[in-house]
Amino acid sequence: MEKAKISLIRTFGRRRGKKLSARQRNLVDAVLPALLPADKEGGGAILEIGFGNGEHLILLAEQNPDKIIIGAEPFENGVAQLLAKITGEQGLVMPQYKNIRVWPDDIRKMPALGGSRFDCIYILHPDPWPKARHEKRRLLSAEFLKTLGTLVSKDGSIIVGTDHADYYDWILEQAKSAGLKIKARGGVAIKTKYQEKNLSGSKRTMYLALFPKA
Ligand SMILES: C[S@@+](CC[C@H](N)C(=O)[O-])C[C@H]1O[C@@H](n2cnc3c(N)ncnc32)[C@H](O)[C@@H]1O
Repeated sequence: MEKAKISLIRTFGRRRGKKLSARQRNLVDAVLPALLPADKEGGGAILEIGFGNGEHLILLAEQNPDKIIIGAEPFENGVAQLLAKITGEQGLVMPQYKNIRVWPDDIRKMPALGGSRFDCIYILHPDPWPKARHEKRRLLSAEFLKTLGTLVSKDGSIIVGTDHADYYDWILEQAKSAGLKIKARGGVAIKTKYQEKNLSGSKRTMYLALFPKA
């Protein structure tokens, strides 16, 4: 019980920002419910945790038309931005984005989707929580990485990118403790919004690919 409480400590900054536009509000109320991931949709799907404004999620959907792409994001304004990008004037999801599903909440609350396993899980620029007293808010703890390791398929991978050097080293330690195989890897195909903002002042994002051990 106590353990469950600790693992659900808040890992994101906020749920809401500025007021949504009328169109965004309508999309969240009317379109989002139909995009919730359904049971069994996790099998062979790609998951992005903390998709921000959704630019990488959209690219994944375009590049993988035959796969379900699930995005998790508790920040309502980010969800609304994504919905605005994938819908046309009539408020209908455009054909090329029909494979997108959205979990508008903390990923740790998402049902395990029928025990199915993802092909790949992306976490790009997780909140670094740089102050020592906030370290417990970092999402990629050994405990959580271990769970993710059970959610990817045998040949699947967890791709992590951060421009925060301390967090990168910390994630490496956590991944080792979680018993995952670790490889450095090149970047993903686009720069995300957070990366463009370059809040950490670092020049580059460092990427890791993590694999469940055979
Ligand atoms: C620094 S932002 C990066 C956003 C985006 N990936 C990018 O690179 O622009 C981190 C994102 O992770 C989300 N996040 C944090 N904790 C999360 C959690 N437990 N489940 C899902 N998303 C989470 C935050 O709401 C935030 O949008």
